[in-house]
Amino acid sequence: MNRDFSNVSMAVIRRLPKYHRYLKDLLDKEVYRISSRELSRSIGFTASQIRQDLNCFGGFGQQGYGYNVEELYKEIGKILGLDKTYTTVIIGAGNLGQAIANYASFNRYGFQLKALFDTNPKLIGMKIRDTEILDLDDLEDFIQKNNIEIGFICTPKEVAQDVADKLTSANIKGIWNFAPVDLKVPKDVIVENVHLSESLFILSYLLNEKELLNS
Ligand code: NAI
Repeated sequence: MNRDFSNVSMAVIRRLPKYHRYLKDLLDKEVYRISSRELSRSIGFTASQIRQDLNCFGGFGQQGYGYNVEELYKEIGKILGLDKTYTTVIIGAGNLGQAIANYASFNRYGFQLKALFDTNPKLIGMKIRDTEILDLDDLEDFIQKNNIEIGFICTPKEVAQDVADKLTSANIKGIWNFAPVDLKVPKDVIVENVHLSESLFILSYLLNEKELLNS
């Protein structure tokens, strides 16, 4: 299979986790083979959209057979890089940082949490599911000594850029940013933002649009 996916659009890439999730559900239900029409019915994309998406990676289905669910699940997992493991740290061990540290599924997918970091002396030294909260002053040293690849920023927005600067100066590869701020980082550092409130505001918009249509 062609492994250079640099020309594949981000819109396609952003649909892959959904394929991955649906295929996992099918495997859990012991469904090992599925037609493109059935897959389309359950996932909510058209069959042609699915074919087009998967063709970006060389195509997987067979005419008259459909898709081999296990093979497709594994291949999409590989495309998403989920066949590897990643070392991670969380910066900001408050409500959100601790909730993420408590969520076991990320570890199951290969994201190994090595430490949390905070500036609050009351938190430093505590453990969240066996992972210690360390002093922010030790962040850069820890990243370099433990080859940490990804930092999750869960600090207040006022300090998020400063934390990002520390992460990048320690040669972090990726940042999962939860702080509501657009970070400036060198080109070779990947930032993926998660902003729950943006999704909530879309829900609010849609609720209001529906009310307007019904009035
Ligand atoms: P919190 O106040 O419970 O936790 C923040 C933690 O960061 C505290 O433990 C604090 O001591 C620590 N901290 C402060 N300065 C620091 C620094 N320079 N380095 C390391 N740690 C530092 O706040 P919460 O509720 O956990 O929110 C954290 C961040 O996540 C905020 O920016 C909030 O806006 C954001 N957030 C984002 C969401 C999203 O969907 N992206 C959802 C919820 C919160």
